Amino acid sequence: MSRKSRWFTLVSLLAIVVLLMAACAPAAKTNKLEMFSWWTAGGEADGLNAMYDIYKKTYPGVEIINATVAGGAGTNAKAVLSTRLTGGDPPDAFQLHAGLEVEKYEPEKYLQPLDSLYASEGWDKVFPKDLISLLKYKDHFWGVPVNIHRANVLWYNKQIFQDNNLTPPATWDEFYKVADALKAKGIIPLVIGTKEGWEAGHTFETILAGTLGAEGYKGLWTGKVQWTDPKVTQALETFKKVMTYANSDYAALTWSDAAQYLVDGKGAMHIMGDWTDGWFTSKNYKGYGWAPVPGTKGIFDALSDSFAAAKGAKNQENLMNWLKVAGSKAGQEAFNPKKGSICARTDCDPKLFNAYLQSAMQDWAKDAIVPSVAHGAAAVEKWATVYKDILTTFVTQGDVKAAQDALQQACKDNGVCK
Ligand code: GAL
Repeated sequence: MSRKSRWFTLVSLLAIVVLLMAACAPAAKTNKLEMFSWWTAGGEADGLNAMYDIYKKTYPGVEIINATVAGGAGTNAKAVLSTRLTGGDPPDAFQLHAGLEVEKYEPEKYLQPLDSLYASEGWDKVFPKDLISLLKYKDHFWGVPVNIHRANVLWYNKQIFQDNNLTPPATWDEFYKVADALKAKGIIPLVIGTKEGWEAGHTFETILAGTLGAEGYKGLWTGKVQWTDPKVTQALETFKKVMTYANSDYAALTWSDAAQYLVDGKGAMHIMGDWTDGWFTSKNYKGYGWAPVPGTKGIFDALSDSFAAAKGAKNQENLMNWLKVAGSKAGQEAFNPKKGSICARTDCDPKLFNAYLQSAMQDWAKDAIVPSVAHGAAAVEKWATVYKDILTTFVTQGDVKAAQDALQQACKDNGVCK
């Protein structure tokens, strides 16, 4: 070997050593954490802030960038997030529903698997089994669950019910009677807002679950039950009739605008998830009662918010610490009473929760659990989106056959129905 080539070999070896050292060195410490969500309304923001407070106390040097894109159920946030992930500019952590929603973000490409964090934090032991299996996708954990929400709640204004000697309806036939009585008094029986394009789908999934039962409803998402089933026709007919008792300005309202009708005593009932409990609490409104959506007693239509970690996150250490807070008992006990949800963990202290949330805890422990489609649990996002669009059109057009055909077609397009 000539002197020149020996020299080259030596320099190349040195370069390789330097590169290896750089690759193995711990990531540089940073002083920021960017956390992305769609939680801007009432109790949602309050809950998130309560968890931020714990993080700030534990990691005082870190500044939290609270990146939010408003819009219920992530209507706007999910699109922004996709662009950021695929464009190589991800937030560190972001809100992600437990379940099939994760497929949208191509986790193997854009997300960090969290299996080792689950193992080191012992999370496989403190989250319920059903939730654990919902969280696993392609054999990995991609998100840390912070809560369990219930979708099938009928909220009502207690004063209106009392003044009119009414009790909350347990079946749709009872609902029609109650609604007729309210209508006769000039009170809007049911308030709904469909402005953001997911609320009609949300309402309908609760009617579906009640009409088909827990097993039948689950079968719609696995192909065991076809969307051509007469019970689906019945559920659509019910929804159509229910809408005849709704406020006429529904297309202009969000879920919280609709909930405001209850606060103002202008509407009697509202079907929505229990973030409404957090929202009422943030408004200091105490005049609400709750019941399962008619026909769904014994069924818990569930969803769970989790936080995921982006691959290539700029603040890796801070991100991992944030996930630890999110999965911790202290983090969840601070977050959930304000958010209007129950802990994903099984060891939270019920005494920290209000009467509604305590009732949700009891139901979660004994009811049949079904996955929400409007909130990412039951189906991949592209199917859920078509489903929501079909229902938003249905409330204005009321064409049962067109909606049912489109629902079956969507199931086929996603390879689940024959
Ligand atoms: C859900 C989410 C809840 C709540 C709700 C309304 O999708 O899981 O935490 O934010 O949307 O925005």
